[in-house]
Amino acid sequence: TYVVTENCIKCKYTDCVEVCPVDCFYEGENMLVIHPDECIDCGVCVPECPANAIFSDAEPQATEAWLSLNRQYSDVWPNIIAKKPPLPNADDENGRLGKLAELSP
Ligand code: SF4
Ligand code: F3S
Repeated sequence: TYVVTENCIKCKYTDCVEVCPVDCFYEGENMLVIHPDECIDCGVCVPECPANAIFSDAEPQATEAWLSLNRQYSDVWPNIIAKKPPLPNADDENGRLGKLAELSP
């Protein structure tokens, strides 16, 4: 599976959902996650993300913690299938470290 990680938080550009062939993104207040059982590992979302927040679970950035967070929230957050405007401060938040503590569950 592919996994959404920290830099999505407070950015949520949503370019990723436009290209996903199986619509497996789920939307929280300030982050998206991927449903690990629905992702078909096509990889097309990766270059679309302006925050470079999406990684394959074969990459070190996709830690167990991020994988389980994606699994946990994709079961409760609603599906998102269309792009929407990014969060208001997305460009300022892009690349800022320590955003996990600011995830809105
Ligand atoms: Fe969707 Fe493909 Fe990205 Fe998986 S890797 S979330 S199937 S676009
Ligand atoms: Fe998040 Fe990147 Fe998608 S910032 S919403 S994973 S395009």
